[in-house]
Amino acid sequence: MEIALRNIHKHYGPVRANDGVSLTVRSGTVHGILGENGAGKSTLMKILAGYTRRTGGDILLDGRPVDCDTPAQASALGIGMLYQDPLDFPLLTVLDNFRLGHPLDDPGVLRDRLTHLARQFGFTLKPDDLLRALTIGERQQLEILRLLERGIRILILDEPTTGISATQKAVLFKALRQLAEEGRSVVLVSHKLEDVEALCDRVTVLRTGWVTGHMDAPFHAGRLMTLMFGAPPPTPARCPASPGEPVLAFDGIDAAGGRTGLKGCDAVIRRGEVVGLAGLEGSGQGVFLRVAAGLKKPVRGRVFLEGKEMTGRDHHGFNACGVHFLPGSRLEEGLVSDMSIVEHAALRAGASGRAGFWIRWADAYNDARKRIADFRIQGGGPETAAVSLSGGNQQRLLLSFLTADPVLLLLENPTRGLDIESAHWVWGHLQSRCSDARASIVFSSAELDEILMVADRILVFFDGRVIKDVRTPETDVGQLGLAIAGKA
Ligand SMILES: Nc1ncnc2c1ncn2[C@@H]1O[C@H](COP(=O)(O)OP(=O)(O)OP(=O)(O)O)[C@@H](O)[C@H]1O
Ligand SMILES: [Mg+2]
Repeated sequence: MEIALRNIHKHYGPVRANDGVSLTVRSGTVHGILGENGAGKSTLMKILAGYTRRTGGDILLDGRPVDCDTPAQASALGIGMLYQDPLDFPLLTVLDNFRLGHPLDDPGVLRDRLTHLARQFGFTLKPDDLLRALTIGERQQLEILRLLERGIRILILDEPTTGISATQKAVLFKALRQLAEEGRSVVLVSHKLEDVEALCDRVTVLRTGWVTGHMDAPFHAGRLMTLMFGAPPPTPARCPASPGEPVLAFDGIDAAGGRTGLKGCDAVIRRGEVVGLAGLEGSGQGVFLRVAAGLKKPVRGRVFLEGKEMTGRDHHGFNACGVHFLPGSRLEEGLVSDMSIVEHAALRAGASGRAGFWIRWADAYNDARKRIADFRIQGGGPETAAVSLSGGNQQRLLLSFLTADPVLLLLENPTRGLDIESAHWVWGHLQSRCSDARASIVFSSAELDEILMVADRILVFFDGRVIKDVRTPETDVGQLGLAIAGKA
């Protein structure tokens, strides 16, 4: 089925999220939508999926104008979307999520269909697992199967590769190619050139709500970068640290959580160091960060901060010693979806004990405006709700709440969902802040390139253990790739 979007507009007050976008997706192809943060990609896809109503323009399927104003209408037309932030039910099982809204009320039959579909695409999903025990990649796999079971012919994926491992990405891309070969259309939103190069037949580049160009494979990377950003962004350099005394020390830590827990972990993080945690998603990095933040108590072993034993203390105790944690799932753990930027500022002031019992709105507004300026949060003002910022701008808001004078920053996928220019800006900002304060940074990332670019030292996790501890200049992508797969 061929989809044509003609002169699509979407205005939010003065914000023109889409400002006259036209493009055609041919059937049996994978069509990429590229663009920097806030370009209007998610807005355009939500319009196509009937989740957001357009201000103007037409949608045509095989040349015929269609009404596509609700998700139900879109779904009846065969259009399904995998959203940027998951819309599933973490407390239900895989099978129950698959069954939700299904016209057929027969768990046995649906279990067989789920198993059959999963096998067809090489997905490893167990019907009785609780959804919240799954990785993001597996949650996506389930959502794709759920949509296919509903008979969709057009699959839209909004940044599906942020936060999944290279292995899961390979499985996903293979499935998407398979769908295109079966004659379906796949629309892939991304801000990563490598994804587009690996998968797409054609791309459309958006910038500030406009189409800046279209291109067919094979793509010219330099020209795509120019279409996305105007001029290619500069790369930040790693600032080699001369590590000082130990800031954080783990002595034989066992902890539960994630899919593997953390087993027998000994580690030392020194002052001024930037340490990257590499590994397949859920191999222990998240537990490491949460134990280091005092958010998770170890079952065995001891934790030290600047030489002082902290075992058993809670997050407030760690926080009072200058430890700050930035969670990976920004709308689940980091921000409150419906609260505005100024309300987040007020909440933050209250949490740090400065405000007493009342809210000083004038201070909160000043604070919010300063965050917007300092972190270049685009697409809104102090009263904009977190949920209506673009994904990348939500991440900037979250980053703005990291304290100014940390001892240790713990960051889970800190540039997840950021375009390359924003990611480089964030690292520049973190590096300069930390080198002034001689603070240490420990961060996890699904992107080996990012780890190699900014980390001084890398810990590789496999099955809950640190299996490699290496200085960045002494390794490369190939070695790390083998190590995270447990083949070091
Ligand atoms: N519900 C909303 N209310 C107000 N403004 C919105 C809303 N949704 C999106 N916007 C604004 O529209 C613009 C485009 O946002 P959109 O989410 O489409 O960008 P994006 O290209 O998906 O970016 P990212 O890569 O950061 O996810 C942004 O300026 C955003 O703030
Ligand atoms: Mg988006």
